[in-house]
Amino acid sequence: MTTQPTRLQPLEGYVLQPEHYYSQEWFDAEQKNLFNKTWVFAGLEAQLSEVGDYLVVQVGYQPMLVTRSKDGKLNALHNVCRHRGAKMLTECGRVQGISCPYHAWRYDLTGELTHVPQQTTQFPGLETRDWGLLKGSVALWDGLVFVHADPDAQPLSHWFAGLDKRLARFRPSRLREINVSVYPIKANWKFFVENHIDWLHLYYLHSSSLKDFAHDTGELTQHGPHWTSFENVRDGQDSNAAGRRPGLKEIPGLHADDAFIGAHLIFPNLALLTSPTSFATVNVQPTGPETCEVEIRTLAMPESVVPKNGFKELDQVMGEDCSAVERLQQSVRSSAFSVGPMAKRWEEPIVKFQQSYCGFMGL
Ligand code: FES
Ligand SMILES: [Fe+2]
Repeated sequence: MTTQPTRLQPLEGYVLQPEHYYSQEWFDAEQKNLFNKTWVFAGLEAQLSEVGDYLVVQVGYQPMLVTRSKDGKLNALHNVCRHRGAKMLTECGRVQGISCPYHAWRYDLTGELTHVPQQTTQFPGLETRDWGLLKGSVALWDGLVFVHADPDAQPLSHWFAGLDKRLARFRPSRLREINVSVYPIKANWKFFVENHIDWLHLYYLHSSSLKDFAHDTGELTQHGPHWTSFENVRDGQDSNAAGRRPGLKEIPGLHADDAFIGAHLIFPNLALLTSPTSFATVNVQPTGPETCEVEIRTLAMPESVVPKNGFKELDQVMGEDCSAVERLQQSVRSSAFSVGPMAKRWEEPIVKFQQSYCGFMGL
């Protein structure tokens, strides 16, 4: 009689169970206990350059807005009408005020209630000052807009725990968006994030697409729950050729250790990709327990010329990553699914991610 091999315990810290990657119940718990309690990437400040510009952003289960009001300030507002609770704006754009399509209550760009139809006859005694939109928090990091559902959220710079300092020389506010790519993925968002911070797979899954880079000497740094990493081109490789997109201008002011390619994570779900010529936000949006959508927005120096097919390497690497995380999703419900020993250094960022995650989720 053959015996089943013993299931070894995974490395300490890999604590998530299969159902955390597919159950609706756990997805709901994440929306309430994680995304509702962290700073969330809302978009680029360049999208809010004029009075009336606004961003629509989902913060866990909370629909929110970021508006540019007449005083020049940014406002984080809950996108939920104070009359009967309808979500009001559905797509980013520009408005003079916020109107609810249901019964036409109107708010100004700071969220104050400015008009209630039939107020005197149907809402006698209503004080408009009592019924402004509920507020959250908004903060900028060098051209990137972040929002938090809590009006008393901790300052964004505290939340970053040093990541903003490590990446400061890129100064994304001076860069211009040159490409947006969207990838629908049939996998739980955590599989995608864990793959993003998994150094081990660079050697194998990307053995061809990232062959020019020196994985052994990568700089991997934890900043609280966040993570930065850099790797240079391999000895003998031409750094003017490896991974470079022709036509993009060099970002001035970078240091040698900002090169060559960087992959970073702002916990929980905003990845970043950097190079001497580009800075990209990689927003990993959960769309269901077993699906997510990844939106990659690439920024570069304004005088850059966007090359034809300039993003085919990105598509290749993303194609490899998507296929790997979808394979995990396809087996996560199997009775044979388990996590065995983890690489002590190259998979350590996954353990750190899970520790931070568990802190929010109360595991
Ligand atoms: S729900 Fe908005 S006006 Fe009634
Ligand atoms: Fe990858």
